[in-house]
Amino acid sequence: VMLPLKEKDKPIARKLLTAGCCARCVLRFCCVSTQASYRQPLQEILKKLQDFIGDSENVKSVIETHEDPPNKRPKLDRSVTLPQSEGDASTVCFINFVKFSCVSQIAQTIKSEDYQFDTLVLSVSLPAQLCVREHSCWLHVKKEVREKGLALDKDDVIQVKEAFKWVMQNLLLKELSGVASTFEVGVEFNHPDTDADCHFLAAACPDCFKPTKNKQSVFTRMAVIKALEKIPDATFLRQYPCPPAQPTRCCYLPDIQCLHLSVFIAGRYNKFCRSLPQTPWLIDGERRMESSVEELIAEHVLSAFRAAGFNFSSSGREDVDVRTLGTGRPFAMELLNPHRSRFSRAEMKQLQETINKSSEKIRVRDLQIVSREAMSRMKEGEEDKSKSYTALVWTHKSIQEEDLAFIHNIKDLVVDQKTPLRVLHRRALAVRPRVIHSMSTRFLDSHHFYLELKTQAGTYIKEFVHGDFGRTKPNMCQLLNSDTDILELDVEVRKMCIVFFGSI
Ligand SMILES: *[C@@H]1O[C@H](CO)[C@@H](O)[C@H](O)[C@H]1NC(C)=O
Ligand SMILES: *[C@@H]1O[C@H](CO)[C@@H](O)[C@H](O)[C@H]1NC(C)=O
Repeated sequence: VMLPLKEKDKPIARKLLTAGCCARCVLRFCCVSTQASYRQPLQEILKKLQDFIGDSENVKSVIETHEDPPNKRPKLDRSVTLPQSEGDASTVCFINFVKFSCVSQIAQTIKSEDYQFDTLVLSVSLPAQLCVREHSCWLHVKKEVREKGLALDKDDVIQVKEAFKWVMQNLLLKELSGVASTFEVGVEFNHPDTDADCHFLAAACPDCFKPTKNKQSVFTRMAVIKALEKIPDATFLRQYPCPPAQPTRCCYLPDIQCLHLSVFIAGRYNKFCRSLPQTPWLIDGERRMESSVEELIAEHVLSAFRAAGFNFSSSGREDVDVRTLGTGRPFAMELLNPHRSRFSRAEMKQLQETINKSSEKIRVRDLQIVSREAMSRMKEGEEDKSKSYTALVWTHKSIQEEDLAFIHNIKDLVVDQKTPLRVLHRRALAVRPRVIHSMSTRFLDSHHFYLELKTQAGTYIKEFVHGDFGRTKPNMCQLLNSDTDILELDVEVRKMCIVFFGSI
C-alpha cells in the first residue's frame, strides 16, 4: 500500500517524526483518510514515511540534528525515541493505536463471554489528556503550516479515535473470524502517567471545570476540549511543552465492556392463579407475594437468552386476585445484554414449553422475537380496546333467576368512576366515564350469580359491582337494589381485539 502523501505533507511529517510521534499519528496530521494506510504494521508505515521525507539517515540522526525552536519554554527531552513497534509509547497517541496484544485480549474477552451476534460496534474511550497532547502537537505544526500557506485546519486532522477504530475493528473481526450493529464492545484506555497533563488547564480556564456529582474527575473530555478552545495559544505554550513530552509507558491494558444490544420478545400469557401479582408486589420495600407473572416468565427467558436483566411491559394488567383467561394478555420483554440472540421457531417453542411446564400458575403462547417498535406499539394501543370479564357476584338480598333478566337488556351503559379508594395512592383523583358495552348473567343460587361483562378497557369491574361507597355510579347494588359484592374475577382476553402480532 502506497501512502497517499503529497509534497506539502513533507515538512509536517518531518516535524512530527522528529518530535517522537508514532507513524500513524503522522498520517493523521497529514490528513490521510484511507483506512488501509493505517492498517499496515507500524514499522512499515514508518519506513515509508522515512523514505518519503527523503532522509537517507536514520531517524535517530534526524533527531540529533533537530534544533529546538528558540521560544520553547519547557525543556523537552531530546533523547526522544521513535515508536518503532506496536506498543511503544508515542508522544501523541501514546497508545500507538493498537498494541496487537491488546486486540487479542479484547477478542479473548468477547470469546470467553460467548456472545452470539451479527455485527460489531466498537466504542473507544481515550483519556482526556490526549486532547491536550493533540493540541500541543497541532500548535507544533501550526506555525509551519501557516508559513507555508497550507490550508490545514485543526479539524482536518484525523481523530485518534477514528483511526484507532479503523485499525482495531478490522483486527478484531479477523480474530473473531467474520462477525460484524447489534454487538458493542467498549474499550476504555487509561494512562495515569499523563493524567497531570490536564491540570494546568484548571488555572488557565477556571470556568471550564466545574465539579459534577457523578464524575470522578473534573477533567472530562468535554471540559478539556472547551478549555483548549478558549485559552490563547500563547498561554498554552507557556504552560505546556510543545511538542508534548514522550511518555515512558504505553496505556494500561484497557477496560473492556461487552454489550449486546437489547433483544425484544413478545407473547401472551394466561394466569390461572388468584394470588399472583403481575409484577413483584412491594410495599415499603417489603415483598408481599412470593412470585409474579413477570418473574415466572423471566426466569426461563433470561437463562435461554443468557441475558443480564429485563424490562417487562404488557397491554394492561390484572389485579393480583384476577385470573387472565382466553387467548392471554399480550406482553413484551426487553432483554438486556443477551449473550444469545438467535432462536429458531422450534427453539422458541421449546422455551415456551419449558415455561408452561414450570408452573401451574401461568402459561405463555405466541412467544417470538419482535422489534423495539413492536414493543412500544403494544403500549400505545392499550386504551381503546374492549375487554371481557366474568365476575362471581354475591347478593345480600335473596334473588331468583328472573330478577336478573333485565341485566341482559342493558347496552352501552356509561358509568362514572371516581378513582377507586384502593388505587388512590397511585392514581390522581378524577371521575372517569367508562362504557359497559353489554352484560349477561348465569344464575347460581339465591345469593350468587356469574356476571359476564364486555367493557371499555380501563373499567374498574370490582368497583362497578360493589359500588366503592358510591364512588362508581351507577353500580350493581343500585341496579339490583341490594348490597352486592364480588367474590372472584376473571378477565378474558381475546386475540382479535389486539392487533399486535400474529402467532408463530
Ligand atoms: C430497562 O431496565 C434498565 C435496567 O434495569 C433500565 O436502566 C432502563 O431504563 C429500562 N428501560 C426502560 C425502557 O424501561
Ligand atoms: C403453552 O400453553 C398455552 C396455553 O395453554 C398453549 O396455547 C401453548 O400451545 C403451550 N405451548 C407449548 C409449547 O407448550
